[in-house]
Amino acid sequence: MLADKDRIFTNVYGFQPWTLDAAIMRGDWDDTRALMARGQDAIIDIVKASALRGRGGAGFPTGTKWSFMPKEPKPDRPNFLVINADESEPGSCKDREIIRHDPHKLIEGALIAGYAMRARAAYIYIRGEYIREAEVLGAAIAEAYARGLIGRNAAGSGYDFDVFLCRGAGAYICGEETAMLESLEGKKGQPRLKPPFPAGAGLYGCPTTVNNVESIAVVPTILRRGAEWFAGFGRENNKGTKLFQISGHVERPCVVEEEMGIPFRELIERMVDQEELHDPLTRVLHHRRGGEHLLIVGGGQRAGGLRLGRPRLHLDQAHAAVSRDGQPLVIAEMRDLLAGGIARLHHGGALRHLHFDPVDLKLRHIVARSS
Ligand SMILES: Cc1cc2nc3c(=O)[nH]c(=O)nc-3n(C[C@H](O)[C@H](O)[C@H](O)COP(=O)(O)O)c2cc1C
Repeated sequence: MLADKDRIFTNVYGFQPWTLDAAIMRGDWDDTRALMARGQDAIIDIVKASALRGRGGAGFPTGTKWSFMPKEPKPDRPNFLVINADESEPGSCKDREIIRHDPHKLIEGALIAGYAMRARAAYIYIRGEYIREAEVLGAAIAEAYARGLIGRNAAGSGYDFDVFLCRGAGAYICGEETAMLESLEGKKGQPRLKPPFPAGAGLYGCPTTVNNVESIAVVPTILRRGAEWFAGFGRENNKGTKLFQISGHVERPCVVEEEMGIPFRELIERMVDQEELHDPLTRVLHHRRGGEHLLIVGGGQRAGGLRLGRPRLHLDQAHAAVSRDGQPLVIAEMRDLLAGGIARLHHGGALRHLHFDPVDLKLRHIVARSS
């Protein structure tokens, strides 16, 4: 189990305030200027060495992605960073916890990442249903501006960097990076053909990198504690720590930071099952019915299911077997899904219908709507 001293997100449960003063007490914004003074290419090299892979689903190496951005942007074609806070996958709610309880990690990360990529500004695109979260993030951005941490001469670094918050209208597809760019430009959120890739022609035709909230929010800690420290967790090709979210047929859904190498079974049993089997708050429904857990990994049309009974299944193996971002979503019994072919899951304030294909354990359609 990850030791408390190794947790990046120390306020993920909101036991302390999200505000700037509280964030500074937790170590955020601690001499950010010195971190930036290491230099743009050096920061990219550190992120490469940390082996951080995108936490938005595809798992592309973050430092490598940043290195695709032009090193000398033209005045009329500035570089941009777009932060993906759409989080509409069923079972996904980790970015929400960062935004509402630890927003300054994201804002400081945006500045450092934006600086490394020579970006003029960051646009944070937040899911429309995240109303309270958008309020918190907007207030945190205002705090950072008022304290001189972003804007002109951000954090005393001599670098000018703006952060804009944009609310989506609640369309799942806008989580896809090019549909997000269309939506940010005020158009219908429909994916673009690639190439060109966003690093060549992204937001308003300018070089753009799209990164997930968590990918950006971990960067200041990686710089402070070192690439080796971060890469010391996890397994080959899946290094570091990660926020896992466990939901579905468990009686205590939770978001927890763990190292990447943790087997799903251990994660789920320890977090929602093991502590007190007789405590109704921690018992998984599966035990009451004597059925077999089914684990849904990821969400969206490319998600898939695996039997949880499989020993020592890791995120990377699950990736290979199914797809996407590997959020454990526990289904108590196969027949729950097969009966009507539909599982109804309440999550993040939205009701989701998962239509399940019993033959190849693939989710076929998802209809998500606010409830
Ligand atoms: C249909 C679809 C929905 C997606 N939704 C999200 C999302 O909600 N959040 C996210 O970070 N990435 C989402 N992605 C992945 C993004 O397109 C993109 O790869 C990601 O934001 C890159 O960030 P990363 O490199 O930091 O992981 C989605 C992709 C697809 C195809």
